[in-house]
Amino acid sequence: MKTGEFEKQLKTTAASVGDFLEDILSSHQLVAGTPHHLLNAMRHAVLNGGKRLRPFMVLESAKLFAGDPKAAMQIAGALECVHSYSLVHDDLPAMDDDAVRRGKPTVHKAFDEATAILAGDALLTLSFGLIGTSEAIAPDLRVKLVTLLARKGGASGMVGGQLLDIQSEGRKRSEIEITRMQAMKTGALISCACESGAILSGAPEEDRVRLRKYGENVGLAFQLADDLLDEYGDPDVVGKATGKDRDKGKQTLAQIYGKRILEDRLDALVNEAEEVMAPYGEKAETLLEAARFVAWRKH
Ligand code: IPE
Ligand code: IPE
Ligand code: MG
Ligand code: MG
Ligand code: MG
Repeated sequence: MKTGEFEKQLKTTAASVGDFLEDILSSHQLVAGTPHHLLNAMRHAVLNGGKRLRPFMVLESAKLFAGDPKAAMQIAGALECVHSYSLVHDDLPAMDDDAVRRGKPTVHKAFDEATAILAGDALLTLSFGLIGTSEAIAPDLRVKLVTLLARKGGASGMVGGQLLDIQSEGRKRSEIEITRMQAMKTGALISCACESGAILSGAPEEDRVRLRKYGENVGLAFQLADDLLDEYGDPDVVGKATGKDRDKGKQTLAQIYGKRILEDRLDALVNEAEEVMAPYGEKAETLLEAARFVAWRKH
């Protein structure tokens, strides 16, 4: 794939995902019973130009196994709702206390803290509703998808990782501890997105395992790149403040090792992803481009 081509593809997918989320967040079913203030905060959290990488992973993994694109979009939307909720809560004063997200005021700045907490809660539950009502997916597979998301997004996944992150403020952590935290707070949801594409397509266990492993590698690369961007990135390009990990006393690998060492590590993670996906040959090229993008991104 030519340079720039992948980013174009990601942008096109992000636009379709944005349209789908707009439909969901303006659907009669949701609008009819939801207080306007809450709905506006949910819209602010979701319809604000994220990269939509987790949805991209769901859609591309599903494509690999010839899954139904409409069903895949519904699950992609669910993953983005969980991700967006995690960002709303991550930015709260009690957590990272951030004012800018995706180049715009964070939800608690644009609204207030209570509304931000509740908008996050509402997005999390909305995501389970989206999976539950994915009628193109067989009921047993829907149960698998919901259960996986509950696990990966919950106490032993993203939420647990966030707790470890907060606890690590102002403390020294070993490399193993930092890597475990990265795998939980960020890797779990990305890996869930990749495996979900395989599940919704009815792919066998061995494919599910491969996509899970690929997702774990990409997840680690993703957080490593995020930490590097926090340390060295340009806030205007990144769309959020930089230097905040250091300011908050959060120890990341970007502070323990120099850039070169971490760039080598990113290379190694991409290589591992390539090895995992080798059995799919050419068909996995887009997912591998995604891994490379994640590792080398500037935003
Ligand atoms: C940021 O995620 C938070 C982390 C998990 C590191 P993204 O970089 O995917 O944020 P958006 O969705 O594109 O804004
Ligand atoms: C966030 O990690 C991970 C989440 C689960 C939201 P960060 O706190 O590093 O993400 P940013 O830098 O605020 O986007
Ligand atoms: Mg955080
Ligand atoms: Mg943060
Ligand atoms: Mg960060």
